[in-house]
Parts: sequence; structure tokens; C-alpha cells
Amino acid sequence: MKAVILGASGLLGKALMREWIGDEVVGFGSRDVDIRDANHVREVVEKTRPGWIVLAAAYTNVDDSESHPDLAFAVNRDGAVNVAQAAKRAGAKLLFLSSDYVFDGKKSSPYETEDARNPQSVYGRSKAEAELHLLEVLPECCIARTSWLFGKGGKCFPDTILKLAGSRPVLDVVNDQRGCPTYSVDLARAIIELCRNQARGIVHTTNAGNCSWFEFAREIVKGAGLATEVRPVSSQQMARPAPRPPYSVLSAQSLRQYGIGLPTWQDALKRYLQERKN
Ligand SMILES: NC(=O)c1ccc[n+]([C@@H]2O[C@H](COP(=O)([O-])OP(=O)(O)OC[C@H]3O[C@@H](n4cnc5c(N)ncnc54)[C@H](OP(=O)(O)O)[C@@H]3O)[C@@H](O)[C@H]2O)c1
Repeated sequence: MKAVILGASGLLGKALMREWIGDEVVGFGSRDVDIRDANHVREVVEKTRPGWIVLAAAYTNVDDSESHPDLAFAVNRDGAVNVAQAAKRAGAKLLFLSSDYVFDGKKSSPYETEDARNPQSVYGRSKAEAELHLLEVLPECCIARTSWLFGKGGKCFPDTILKLAGSRPVLDVVNDQRGCPTYSVDLARAIIELCRNQARGIVHTTNAGNCSWFEFAREIVKGAGLATEVRPVSSQQMARPAPRPPYSVLSAQSLRQYGIGLPTWQDALKRYLQERKN
């Protein structure tokens, strides 16, 4: 099997490039291929002739998307459609990375793949619209929704907390948003398995368990052996430009259908803190 990774220079893309062993894998960052350029995307796909394309490229700045909606939609929705059209033309399979932010967060039990989308932010809308377009262009594509990604090689929540904890005695962290932290290494391994299992349709792909950002931060500080106090605060006290779903836990049911089960986020965090030391 030959795979093309679009977004290979990002957090997930780097993990995919490291973890994908045993197949031919070619990775592209935005400087190699801008997914907004339909012609270039088509040329690259025709030239590389992959069996699978993993579309991890995205405009991922959730807050800045609110003030740059044109950019968010151009990359996340229209760029994804360009890739789907190129995949269809070349007979390649496509796995697209989507987000828990396609949901409004009003549920109090884990979101299943068939739950209604109702994004509350520009970023979430760009991903939700991408999903709908992709399912029209390439109905057999795979949409892997994930959440709260962390890992080596990019900006992530544990790194921010550890940096702040190094210089402040107390950290205030929101306690009224719940989700599933997901380690880029575990997500990459699951994606590789999904491609090898010829996955199609929507799959929720996160580490097991869930927590609030406050609980996540407390575990990070504890895991790093720091004495910093972590205090729970509300989203209202820490206003951000983009609204976040208060509850965006994704059910593991769809992933289990492929015989894949990811470790807990606490286990994943331990391995990440170890990886940071190396
Ligand atoms: N991070 C999260 O918490 C999270 C949560 C849910 C879903 N996701 C989704 O998971 C996927 C991977 O996320 P990530 O955190 O790995 O993202 P990331 O670290 O921000 O990386 C984004 C990647 O997309 C590339 N890119 C940006 N604009 C592009 C364009 N116009 N054309 C081609 N490539 C472009 C970047 O290339 P350069 O490096 O060259 O700029 C980079 O390789 C994304 O689809 C994201 O929406 C992420």
C-alpha cells in the first residue's frame, strides 16, 4: 500500500510519518502542496498514485477562525473538497480528519457518529460542512473525528500548562468543558489501522476516558512532579473568541467495530511526558 499524508508537518502528520512503518508513505506540508490549489492537488495525487490519502492538513486555529472565516472555510472545507475530487479521479481512498467541535456539546452522554451536527464556532462549521461535502463527493470516504490532540512537534495543551507551571504558583483552568484528550501517537496508530481495515464512514477516534481541561491540567502538573496549584474556573471567567462545546466526549463504539481500542488518556499522557524527556 502507498499512502500520502497531507499536513505531514503538523502535530498528527509528524506522528503519522514516524509511526507508519511497512508501507510506502509520502508526506506533504503546506509549502509542498496548498490544498486550496485544486490543480496542484490533482497533479500531486496523479503523480504519486496513492492507495490512501490521509488528509490531516487544516487551518486549526480555533479562535483566529472567528476573525478569519474565509481562510477557515477555504482550507478546511474547500481544500478538503479539492482533495476528495482528486482522490476520486485517481481512484484513491480518503481518510479525512474532523473534530468534536462539529457538535454543540449539549449532550451529557458520549456522542455517537450519527448524532446531529450543530457546530457553534467557525472552525466547527468549516469541519461540519467539509464532512457533508466529502460524503457527497466520495461517499465511501472515512471521516475520523478526534479531539483535544496533544503530542510532540507542535503546540499542545500539556506543553502550555508545563510552560506556565514553570513560572506561576497558581494556574486557573476551565472546568466546564469535557472532552477526550488524544495522543498524536495513539491517533496515528489508529488511523493506520483504519486504512489497513479499509474503513469507511464516520469513526470517532480518541483516547479512552474523558475529563475537563482542569482535570487534564491537574494530571499534567502531577505527572511532571510540579507543585503548582491548579484551580477550577468557568469558561465565562476565561472568555475566548470561539465558543467551545461544554461536553464533546466521543463514543468509542464506531472504533470498536474495527477491533481498535485506544488506551486511556491518563496512560497516553504518561507516555507523552516520558517522550518529552527523551
Ligand atoms: N489539534 C487538535 O486538538 C484537533 C482536534 C480535533 C481535530 N483536529 C484535526 O486533526 C487534524 C490534524 O491536526 P493537527 O493538530 O495535527 O494540526 P496542525 O498541527 O495545526 O497541522 C496542520 C497541518 O496542516 C497544514 N496546512 C495548513 N494549511 C494548509 C493548506 N492551506 N494546505 C496544505 N496544508 C496546510 C500545515 O502545514 P504547515 O506546517 O506547512 O503550515 C500542517 O502540516 C486537522 O484536520 C485538525 O482539524 C485537531
